[in-house]
Amino acid sequence: MTQQKDTFTWHNTVLTAEQRAEAKGQRPAVIWFTGLSASGKSTLANALEHALFERGHHTFLLDGDNVRHGLNKDLDLSPEGRQENIRRIGEVAKLFADAGLIVVTAFISPYRSDRRMVRELLKPGEFVEVHVHAPLEVCEKRDPKGLYAKARAGEIKGFTGIDAPYEVPEHAELVIDTSKNDVATCIQTLLDYLREKNILLR
Ligand code: ADX
Repeated sequence: MTQQKDTFTWHNTVLTAEQRAEAKGQRPAVIWFTGLSASGKSTLANALEHALFERGHHTFLLDGDNVRHGLNKDLDLSPEGRQENIRRIGEVAKLFADAGLIVVTAFISPYRSDRRMVRELLKPGEFVEVHVHAPLEVCEKRDPKGLYAKARAGEIKGFTGIDAPYEVPEHAELVIDTSKNDVATCIQTLLDYLREKNILLR
């Protein structure tokens, strides 16, 4: 039996990103943590995601070291590799935001132009740039992966903060100093901000 085209009616998609998000008591957003290696980006990103999850929000975490094992495993840490890394993450984050989620990302993202590119991909107010700050000496002392020591020994070239630049955000929505505040305090600051901006509706 042949089906005729006029047997079917086209349904416009009735659910918008905003409706999907509202059902979770939130508005779509990308919380973009940027900062030096060992500044605390992944720690805060994980703690924030956990805090949001516990409050019944719908989130997704994109983390530099993990994404570089999969989607971006073909990219190096040259300026061009980093730019393409951030471009792809930006596009992925946008897709998740379009699904109504709060996306939390943790990438060094050292270049202002790359961060601006992601900001411009998203709707006004969706991009929340959070500069996770700790002085280089503190990051170097933490050195959880031993990478600063290797960079100082010349075993890793082009290491952010040592012999590659980190361009400090000029207009970050938030600056969080992890050398002066514990994780719980940082998370409280973030939650307060997200409520104030109506990204969290409850
Ligand atoms: S980004 O610059 O492109 O945003 P991303 O956050 O994805 O970087 O990855 C950085 C991670 O790669 C660091 O956390 C660190 O573990 C590792 N790494 C390896 N080489 C370097 C390097 N030259 N500079 C910075 N991080 C490096």
